[in-house]
Amino acid sequence: MIGSTNGEAAVSITGLGCCVPERIVTNDELSRHVDTSDEWIRERTGIRERRIAAETEALSDLALPAARKALGAAGVEGGDIDLLIVATVTPDMTFPSTAALMADALGARAAGAYDLSAGCTGFMYALAQAYGMLAAGLSRRALVVGGDVLSKLLDWSDRSTLVLFGDGAGAVVLEQTSERGFLGFELGADGGGGANLWLPGSGSRKFDDPDGYVKMNGREVYKFATRVLVQSAEAVLDRCGVAIEDVDVYVPHQANVRIIDHATRKLGVPSERVVINVDRYGNTSSGSIPLALADAIADGRLRPGSLVLMTGMGAGLTWGSALLRWTKEGAQ
Ligand code: ACO
Repeated sequence: MIGSTNGEAAVSITGLGCCVPERIVTNDELSRHVDTSDEWIRERTGIRERRIAAETEALSDLALPAARKALGAAGVEGGDIDLLIVATVTPDMTFPSTAALMADALGARAAGAYDLSAGCTGFMYALAQAYGMLAAGLSRRALVVGGDVLSKLLDWSDRSTLVLFGDGAGAVVLEQTSERGFLGFELGADGGGGANLWLPGSGSRKFDDPDGYVKMNGREVYKFATRVLVQSAEAVLDRCGVAIEDVDVYVPHQANVRIIDHATRKLGVPSERVVINVDRYGNTSSGSIPLALADAIADGRLRPGSLVLMTGMGAGLTWGSALLRWTKEGAQ
């Protein structure tokens, strides 16, 4: 799916908030669980540390504080929200949806609420959906949450996955605005590559002896990621008639600094415009892009008028890009 928003309603992000667990887990700490080292993890991934949820913490325990901050930044209340989408592969439970639980907790009684599953790309898919609902006049104000607690699905004896992921959530409020915020989207999926990053036995399909842990073919995912980050970004730029030189802030999915460096080089984005926080958070899946947006606001790179290019990729296999003119002053 690809489209520019030319001629349609002006919709933008008017509030953003994030939340990560308190506990910091360093590479050295992981090397006590599996045969790895700080040096290997830094060199191959760029990750120094990640946040890991407590045993009693579920997704909504991170997503609700993030949502409250986003609502506060937008100057609205839960009751003002009429659409709530939670992009995640680690909901509190299969049903009820985490979105329905959050709508209740936030007092969003008039909201349609549902979870969306598109792996680490979930936040991009949810932004596109919420944009569409607002542009069509079906929604007046949407809350889009991206977050995961993948630590709950990791095998703490498997070094090939354990070192990569962390937990975190972000939320944004989308509203009709006077200036055009979202300029275009590109979304895609390749289920044929799905088994390169999957959780066998987590649904209605029967598997023999599933152990309940994430399985990944790292090399295949690496090849996929380096390809789609570039292709998807180029596709949305082309559709919107925007040159890469005009992009002020580039926010790629935070999976591995080598993947980000590769995409940055191929696209020709100057390094000072690239947001990187995978070193502090690891790969937080759907939380990755909102957490990176928050960092770009905090360091002053993301300000009203900035043109932002975001690209996610992940399980599915899925990918998605959005081009956004940032319209909000200090949206956090
Ligand atoms: N510590 C030490 N050694 C390790 C570790 C580890 N944590 N993991 C693997 N190794 C070993 C391997 O066993 C292998 O040893 P061998 O040569 O004796 O067989 C060696 O290191 C090299 O392994 P490679 O897989 O070739 O290492 P590579 O440079 O490809 O890096 C990595 C592996 C980091 C997983 C890389 O392939 C990668 O980043 N892939 C993408 C993963 C990803 O981003 N997944 C999520 C994206 S989608 C989403 O966000 C949900």
